[in-house]
Amino acid sequence: MSRENFRKQVERAANNPEAGRDDRPRGPRPGQRPPLRVFTTTLWEYPSQHYDAKDSRFQGSKDYAGATPSWVIWQLLQRYTRKGDTVLDPMCGSGTTLDVCTDLERNGIGFDLNPQRAEITKNDSRELPVENESMDFCFVDPPYSTHIDYSDDDRCIGKLDAGAPMARDDVIPGQAYYESMEEVISELYRVLKPNRYMGLYVSDSWRKQKGVKGGVFMPIGFELFSIMRDYFRPVDIIAVVRGNTKLQRGNWHKSAEQDNFFLRGFNYLFIMKKEAG
Ligand SMILES: C[S@@+](CC[C@H](N)C(=O)[O-])C[C@H]1O[C@@H](n2cnc3c(N)ncnc32)[C@H](O)[C@@H]1O
Repeated sequence: MSRENFRKQVERAANNPEAGRDDRPRGPRPGQRPPLRVFTTTLWEYPSQHYDAKDSRFQGSKDYAGATPSWVIWQLLQRYTRKGDTVLDPMCGSGTTLDVCTDLERNGIGFDLNPQRAEITKNDSRELPVENESMDFCFVDPPYSTHIDYSDDDRCIGKLDAGAPMARDDVIPGQAYYESMEEVISELYRVLKPNRYMGLYVSDSWRKQKGVKGGVFMPIGFELFSIMRDYFRPVDIIAVVRGNTKLQRGNWHKSAEQDNFFLRGFNYLFIMKKEAG
């Protein structure tokens, strides 16, 4: 299916209250996905979560809730790394970053509190067992507040509510979430070589709350971007169109209209550089 036809199908489904049944578009099947090319604008879209690798191997696991679209990592590695570079993902989950590294002949290092594979080391990313200035690139796709229950580990940042009420007037909502994320970001700064780049992939979040008109909006993207600016130089901000099949559910669109909120249509990809000195 051409990209244009796929887009038309998605648009039709988004406006169709019956969408969400089994006849909804699912995107191209393995072997039918368009070949990847380096994207040149700040709006990224691809009609599948994964690309077709040469050896038909899948990147990460499609069954891991919250797995990163592998083509996003592919785009970053094509632009900001070379063959043989070492790439770190401190929240590696199902190992998508490691598989893209294998495809592109980079050395991937993965940590996670809930490792899904033997090559991923169990570790809290607020303290990385990695030497200072030893990594050529870092990629991280953290939890976006509490929207997915990743594991029973109390240290999981996905247990911290980015919309938690302010404890005092002088702190922001969700302070514990942002403080933890700052620890992760400062670790990435420490381990990255000077003049090298990192990417952080994240979405804002919204949830309904009884008694709160309009629900609770959590501007996670802007808050994390402002934390990262204290460490890194911003290189660019990419909007990545979300191809989540849940976005095609007619009843979700109906409630978004009735209750006057927005479904999340894009993720941010922040690209940052660690300046020398
Ligand atoms: C959005 S998922 C990452 C998905 C991954 N990129 C993939 O493609 O499978 C976020 C990950 O952060 C991990 N995580 C949450 N808190 C953590 C922490 N303190 N240290 C390390 N990993 C953590 C979760 O276990 C989860 O796997």
